[in-house]
Amino acid sequence: MKVAVTGKGGVGKTTVAAFLARCWRDLGREVIAVDADPDANLAGTLGYRGPDIVPLANLKALIEERVGAADRWGGFLRMNPRVEDLPERFAIVVDGIRVLVMGTIERGRGGCACAANILLREVLNHLLLGQGQFLVVDMEAGIEHLGRGTAEGVDAMLVVVEPGWASLQTAGRVAELAGHLGIRQVQAIANKICGDEDLAFVRAHLAGLPLLGWLPFDRELESAARAGSLCREGPFYRQVLRIAEQLGG
Ligand SMILES: Nc1ncnc2c1ncn2[C@@H]1O[C@H](COP(=O)(O)OP(=O)(O)OP(=O)(O)O)[C@@H](O)[C@H]1O
Ligand SMILES: [Mg+2]
Repeated sequence: MKVAVTGKGGVGKTTVAAFLARCWRDLGREVIAVDADPDANLAGTLGYRGPDIVPLANLKALIEERVGAADRWGGFLRMNPRVEDLPERFAIVVDGIRVLVMGTIERGRGGCACAANILLREVLNHLLLGQGQFLVVDMEAGIEHLGRGTAEGVDAMLVVVEPGWASLQTAGRVAELAGHLGIRQVQAIANKICGDEDLAFVRAHLAGLPLLGWLPFDRELESAARAGSLCREGPFYRQVLRIAEQLGG
């Protein structure tokens, strides 16, 4: 099962991706968590406090070998690079969860920023998962990445929304574009819910997007995050666990 977590900036994508990974791991599954946000913070959210992680896109030799001369104008790019060994070789392991940080390639003059995207698309499309393995991707905020089609190969796209117009509007666009990409399972997760009214508001404005589950607003998340851990008790964790199970955990 490959799942991409999307949505407007700040709605809780990284938090949801990290907790989903945690829950699947706690349910005894093997998990690969992919950070596809150039402003990467998934590993840190999972509790990683080591030295800076070098994203795959910054491994020049690897990019050259797999994708081609990404930073030379007119460089030739291979569209289907081998990716099978990437989690084993390059993921860092945080509390039993493999984390792959994709990163981004700076656009040089006339250069191409697509090598990292090709690699990401290939990981999401062609990385073979075994029985009971899960891959969860923390996507970049907004809808631009949908135009690049990097998440085309996921089984499910989860759109995180909060009780407010802006994130619900973005969710509508994400759902439409995901449909164009042929992703069949597109579902919303309502986050930062403070009561029945919040949930009712979200439900009323999902415009046909199915609601997979909802997560409470939880002040403890911040303090736990500062302490470098994910809180594995309490209502937030329990609700994510339910979602993880619904998704096949
Ligand atoms: N249910 C919640 N209750 C309280 N705070 C939350 C909740 N979900 C997320 N947050 C907080 O909201 C902030 C943004 O969350 P997060 O970084 O997961 O969002 P994001 O969508 O990944 O943001 P970005 O678009 O910048 O990548 C964080 O400080 C996080 O701790
Ligand atoms: Mg994020």
